[in-house]
Amino acid sequence: MTSASEPIVELRNIVKRFGNVEALSGVSMSVRKGEVLGLLGDNGAGKSTLVKTLAGVHDPDEGEIVVKGQRRSPWTPLAARDAGIETVFQDRALAPQHSIVTNIFMGREITNRLGMTRVQAQIDEANRLMREIGFTSKVFNPESTVGHLSGGERQGVAIARALYNEADVIVLDEPTTALSLTETQKVFRFVEAVRASGRTVVFIGHNIYHVWEIADRFFVIDRGREAFEGEKAQFDGAEHLIEMMHQLAETGRADVASLKQPA
Ligand SMILES: Nc1ncnc2c1ncn2[C@@H]1O[C@H](COP(=O)(O)OP(=O)(O)OP(=O)(O)O)[C@@H](O)[C@H]1O
Ligand SMILES: [Mg+2]
Repeated sequence: MTSASEPIVELRNIVKRFGNVEALSGVSMSVRKGEVLGLLGDNGAGKSTLVKTLAGVHDPDEGEIVVKGQRRSPWTPLAARDAGIETVFQDRALAPQHSIVTNIFMGREITNRLGMTRVQAQIDEANRLMREIGFTSKVFNPESTVGHLSGGERQGVAIARALYNEADVIVLDEPTTALSLTETQKVFRFVEAVRASGRTVVFIGHNIYHVWEIADRFFVIDRGREAFEGEKAQFDGAEHLIEMMHQLAETGRADVASLKQPA
């Protein structure tokens, strides 16, 4: 299924340096339409740097960013957003003292010709977005304060906001790290709804079991380089992926020959 779909964004030979530190040493990663791509790697491997490059926060020192077949340069946060890439950075994403509606539309309010916010239109749109991702609650409505929501629900609001911006690709940097099992399941349901709508999710996580459960494909980086990638069907199960991650950590290489042929 995923192998047949075209890349929506491609990072080609990306090099990113911070002074003497080379955080990315020529990483090529493509993101396909309608998939959940799991991005894995040890602490300091370069995951956040790669994602920040995808988000336009970093303009790479070398390499190209290609969106729907077209090379894009300069690459800025605005260019990335314009290309339909929305990134949810954990915690910094939302203003907890404000309502769900305010958070979704912050800086991009629906206004009338006089520039006044169309309150009811925003509430309707917020309801629609929340339904779209399967955010159904008897307790909360668009005017509820975000600070009262659970961690998983907050991720849902951040995802709804990304959808409002007509994102094709939503990047989630460690969305479940601070969450309980129940809350994690909520985030998974939101991610599945996003995928079901034909959009793409890039999911970064520390817990390999979480990433295994939600992703269709895995991309593993190690000290700024691609270590291996594979579709879920190429692995025997989560243990196989974990085994390869262990090998990588211990020997610097993973046994890619143990992967099955892609479907
Ligand atoms: N703004 C920066 N200035 C200097 N060095 C940086 C900067 N951002 C990242 N680095 C370095 O680049 C390398 C990769 O960091 P990065 O944050 O991308 O790793 P990561 O895979 O996201 O790690 P973690 O799992 O801990 O979040 C690290 O050595 C880090 O110290
Ligand atoms: Mg990181």
